[in-house]
Amino acid sequence: MAKTYSIAIDGPAGAGKSTIAKRLAKELGYKYVDTGAIYRTVAYFLDLLGVSPKDVDGVERYIDELTVVIEYDDDGVQHMIMNGMDVSGEIRTQDISQKASLVSAHAVVREVLLDMQRDVAKSYNVIMDGRDIGTVVLPNADVKIFLTASAEVRAKRRTDELLAKGQTADYETVLKEIVQRDYQDTHRPIAPLKMAKESVKVDTSDMDIEQVVQTIREIVGKKIPL
Ligand code: DC
Repeated sequence: MAKTYSIAIDGPAGAGKSTIAKRLAKELGYKYVDTGAIYRTVAYFLDLLGVSPKDVDGVERYIDELTVVIEYDDDGVQHMIMNGMDVSGEIRTQDISQKASLVSAHAVVREVLLDMQRDVAKSYNVIMDGRDIGTVVLPNADVKIFLTASAEVRAKRRTDELLAKGQTADYETVLKEIVQRDYQDTHRPIAPLKMAKESVKVDTSDMDIEQVVQTIREIVGKKIPL
């Protein structure tokens, strides 16, 4: 099989991972894999069943009844298919963000999703974003980036994003949720959010999107023939 390249972008919620990864994937002709969307789909599925994201037994009992498929439309946009239903829109709420963070702490959930993520990288050149891509999912990724920003900047960006989508969002609430999610994602025992040894850290607090894209492009260009 021909060599495939992989770029891992990890970091906390709202650091700009998906915006940057989408842009770069388009430029490079890579597949963009948003792994957070997979955890969100699991959280949404359990939520519909009324299973609490903290309920270990409930999660273990129902996870086998879920089939998650990632599909891409003609524009390369990722769609999440939950037992045959496209739930790409439904998973983008603040409520599901929190529940996905809690659900993702369960060993059984992480195990079920691991091969699925690795399989995509075996077949395609990928830019994959998440929390544990460089540390666990693709430890041999050609490029590892840790994208971060202050919690305040991330909360402001997330608030603007939600408002732009017509959802209600209040900065203070979003900030509180981001701080809580950071804590949960970095303190869970399995595959917590942390910087991989070989990662290049990029703090985007004082950068606009163009500057971030340019910075990441340079980092990638040193490791992968573009
Ligand atoms: O990137 P996101 O905000 O869509 O992710 C939602 C949650 O999913 C996040 O708070 C933690 C979890 N997640 C994870 O545990 N591992 C990943 N690779 C991606 C997301």
